[in-house]
Amino acid sequence: MTLIDGKSTSLQIQDEIKSLVEVRTKRGQKKPHLAAIIVGDNPASRAYVGHKIKACERVGFESTLIELSESVREEQLLSEVEALNNNDSIDGFIVQLPLPDHIDDQKVLEAVRPEKDVDGFHPVNAGNLSLGLPGFQPATPAGIMELLKRYKIETSGKHAVIIGRSAIVGTPMTLLLSRNANPGNCTVTLCHSRTQNLEEITRSADILIAAIGKPHFVTKSMIKPGAVIIDVGINRIPDASRKSGNRLTGDVDFEGAAEVAGSITPVPGGVGPMTIAMLLRNTLQAADQRA
Ligand code: GUN
Repeated sequence: MTLIDGKSTSLQIQDEIKSLVEVRTKRGQKKPHLAAIIVGDNPASRAYVGHKIKACERVGFESTLIELSESVREEQLLSEVEALNNNDSIDGFIVQLPLPDHIDDQKVLEAVRPEKDVDGFHPVNAGNLSLGLPGFQPATPAGIMELLKRYKIETSGKHAVIIGRSAIVGTPMTLLLSRNANPGNCTVTLCHSRTQNLEEITRSADILIAAIGKPHFVTKSMIKPGAVIIDVGINRIPDASRKSGNRLTGDVDFEGAAEVAGSITPVPGGVGPMTIAMLLRNTLQAADQRA
């Protein structure tokens, strides 16, 4: 069984990005600059954004964090987005999700200029992805593709099963895995809450991607021996043995799955750190495209 180490792969990619930033600065170009808008104080969102900002420092990017209160009005948030769109020193920016219920997420995501949309959530970038055209790819599915590539996992002709059809992970993952590329060329099945005979389908997966947000949803009996298991879940569950009273766990029952899988990503230390590496890569791409 191979443990797919997203943390060390992410650090390796960050080293590569750092070298490219040094090349840029030696040429007299400015450091890439990423901004993040966070609304409210959801602890998980704060932690994610904190990791993103810290990663910027590690690779020599500039970063700006814009913190808005939970009660911010939609117009105010839209005007912050507009200011970042028009700020020449910012190469790319993200609006951390989820947003409070009184704000229309889609309206906000559509307000981000596609050239600065390093999350790849704008319909222009989503459309480019679906057509196989260049653009910003959403960081989580891009990170999974990078893991498959760097671990030299054969994907051509394989059956990939994705559980969860979100716009951020499941849907773009389907597109990337089915492309005529390497990695790619998978036969893809996208499962969701209405899927019948789920276990029968997952048991035929050579590559199984769990992105549903339910702790330990995927169990040993759902896995074909030797399969590649990619766990996108980041769930906080109670754990009295921890000082914080909780711990992170994935959508896969890791212990059971590890007994049958050929390779598997852990949580934490799997897909999560790769998402950050891909956000940095998109930001460098945004800066290079403006230069
Ligand atoms: N919330 C969960 N994942 C993401 C992500 O990749 N980007 C943003 N902006 N918000 C998220």
